[in-house]
Amino acid sequence: MAEAIEILHDEAEIAARVKVLAGEIGEAIQGDFTIVGILKGSFVFVADLVRALDALGRRSRVDFIRLSSYGAAKRSSGEVRLAGAAPAGIAGHKILLVDDIVDTGRTLVYARELLQAQGAADVWTCALIDKPSRREVAFTADFAGFQVPDIFIVGYGIDYAENYRHLPYIGKID
Ligand code: IMP
Ligand code: MG
Repeated sequence: MAEAIEILHDEAEIAARVKVLAGEIGEAIQGDFTIVGILKGSFVFVADLVRALDALGRRSRVDFIRLSSYGAAKRSSGEVRLAGAAPAGIAGHKILLVDDIVDTGRTLVYARELLQAQGAADVWTCALIDKPSRREVAFTADFAGFQVPDIFIVGYGIDYAENYRHLPYIGKID
């Protein structure tokens, strides 16, 4: 791979931020709740978040849904699709919806509506990375890790054309 990657947040910084987010989430959501991660980008973040919540004595259930809007491009197609099954058995549950990045806002808005249509009692939203300048629909995540400008991010589960998800840090790619 020839592209250069600039490290924006290293492993230690991410771990510290995830711990703070877990604290905020634990205070805001009382009682049992289910984390619903959006695949594939959220898989590393969800894995760290459930363990940070556990360290605070909170035992969340975990589920995933698969949505896609990107393909292999650096710009969203603007059309979010559910790829695979809708989450089952969430009626009446408190849900924390987790994605890697909130960009235009379409994915999390779509996912929140999907979960509400499935009968979720309450839906909170969390994104590791927020690009507020890119919003195309009104949306504010309840919990957000790092704000970035209009740049393309990879690492810590986040890909460019299916590469770089394995990187332990969050980086910028040109
Ligand atoms: P939105 O629907 O435009 O908010 O896009 C959210 C989705 O786009 C995220 O789940 C990511 O998968 C993807 N995405 C947005 N920005 C980036 C980026 O900088 N790198 C990789 N994926 C991104
Ligand atoms: Mg995604």
